[in-house]
Amino acid sequence: MCGIIGIVGSEPVAGRLVDALKRLEYRGYDSAGVATLEDGSISRRRAEGKLGNLAQKLAFEPLEGRIGIGHTRWATHGAPTERNAHPHATDRVAIVHNGIIENFRDLLADLARDGYQPQTQTDTESVALWVTRELARGADPELAVARTLKQLKGAFALAFLFRDHDGLLIAARHGAPLAIGYGTTEMYLGSDAMALAPFTSRLTYLEDGDWAVITRDGVTIRDGRDAIVQREQQVSQASALLVDKGNHRHFMAKEIYEQPETISHTLSHYVDMGAERVAIREALPFSFAELTRLTMSACGTAYYAGAVAKYWFERYARLPVDIDVASEFRYREPPLAPGGLSLFISQSGETADTLAALRYCAGQGQHVASLVNTLESTIARESGVVFPILCGPEIGVASTKALTAQLTALASLAIAAGRARGALSEEQETELVRELVRLPTAVSQALGTEAQIMDIAKRLSKAKDVLYLGRGPMYPIALEGALKLKEISYIHAEGYAAGELKHGPIALVDEDMPVIVVAPSDELVDKTLSNMQEVAARGGNIILITDKKGAETVGQDVADIILIPEVSSFVAPILATIPVQLLAYHTAVFMGTDVDQPRNLAKSVTVE
Ligand code: F6R
Repeated sequence: MCGIIGIVGSEPVAGRLVDALKRLEYRGYDSAGVATLEDGSISRRRAEGKLGNLAQKLAFEPLEGRIGIGHTRWATHGAPTERNAHPHATDRVAIVHNGIIENFRDLLADLARDGYQPQTQTDTESVALWVTRELARGADPELAVARTLKQLKGAFALAFLFRDHDGLLIAARHGAPLAIGYGTTEMYLGSDAMALAPFTSRLTYLEDGDWAVITRDGVTIRDGRDAIVQREQQVSQASALLVDKGNHRHFMAKEIYEQPETISHTLSHYVDMGAERVAIREALPFSFAELTRLTMSACGTAYYAGAVAKYWFERYARLPVDIDVASEFRYREPPLAPGGLSLFISQSGETADTLAALRYCAGQGQHVASLVNTLESTIARESGVVFPILCGPEIGVASTKALTAQLTALASLAIAAGRARGALSEEQETELVRELVRLPTAVSQALGTEAQIMDIAKRLSKAKDVLYLGRGPMYPIALEGALKLKEISYIHAEGYAAGELKHGPIALVDEDMPVIVVAPSDELVDKTLSNMQEVAARGGNIILITDKKGAETVGQDVADIILIPEVSSFVAPILATIPVQLLAYHTAVFMGTDVDQPRNLAKSVTVE
């Protein structure tokens, strides 16, 4: 979850390291640091908090070195202080690290016997000290790293800078992504293609177990058994431009407002508009018609996309679906029939738990498909077939446009599966496709609820706890609403299946408890509205998200009704996402939180 960058440069690197870290800040933003070599010795600048603090420090105390490494941190071991910030250094080596060294206590205990004492609370320092001991025993940098890597347990990416070796960086990958970039007179390494985009588009992704010796002349890559290997060089499509907020105050607002456009973009990939048919462009190594089960795994918001899609695949394709949060999936050791299909949903394509679930399924002989935004990601690269969501870079830590793009792609895949399995007729396909095509317009109209939502959000910002209720495919949207509110406003919120309320959570309801009911007029609306009346009867403060027809059903009983356009029950979950996003966003803005970089979070979760 941390971001790593390295430059073996021909000019001073500190400024460029910080610029690259800006592009990696989504991976963690609780502290940052850089180290360079000046006259053969290691100099560091590190700062607690956002990257701006490091940039300010460098303005007062510049670094001149032409080789260096940089890091932006999401703390796992040790508080996010300057002392715990990377790079960690001894008198011989500086290192940056993404991931977790699981056996760091054993390593430190061994090192202590030789008098090596850590100065920080991090797991990372055990690696710096181990390499230092190898160097002190006479190993050269390559041997020192090779020996150290053999000691490490866990998932990590590492980069090493050595005293007295002005043209040398060593990088290692074991479970966390790392790419080598090729310049004309310089070489680079970074956590992803986006970080390297301003420098080069020519990249090689290290594979698990690889380690690389990088000099100004090029790179030598070795695998986990230290044999020299050739890895493919690719041309990255990542843009060198830094995405900006446009006229919006936050990336999250920009991304919410982009959704009519991003949904259209996704649709144009999956739908043949002229023929009014879903047209899957990817070559499928499996047949939807022959599948007996679909297994999906994902985390957080991406999991909710899968939870909605379960309704679609089961209803429109008559295909049984299992969906699990990826962090739990493999621990129940699910038996999977060989030749089945497993689908993994991930915006970043780097989420460690989703990747681990993918590897479990691949090991069980499943066809592996993924639905990702980042086509160069590890999950994409390890999938047999990759379905893109094409929503463009999502910068706000709270996922918005990626969710609606994931839902749009999943809805299209459910139609394709329905047709292939004979569960949908051609006419039914045409009708569902038309509903998808009308969606961007409906989303634009739903964005028109913003003024009313701001009003409600002002009141919501005073709440301590909020409940979200939904039934059927609106249940995952209720869960998403609660997640979004929690993560950016820090207000405690829970999503419940509306019918589940009376089995316990209704005890929480009183006049101070806002209850947000997500209930557009689908087949289940009457039942959800009955559950809503149970809340109203107990003094609950209801905010109803529905359409005109739904509003007519409840009459004057509810003070706050957020009206979204009337659409079919098929696309209604995608549309209902808009008001829950806006509610969370404006509540957070009223509370003055850091909307785009909420506390304790990171955009890409590469630790389990
Ligand atoms: C919530 C959010 C997270 C992510 C989750 C999975 O707003 O952004 O819950 O959805 O961490 O991330 P990806 O989709 O990158 O695998």
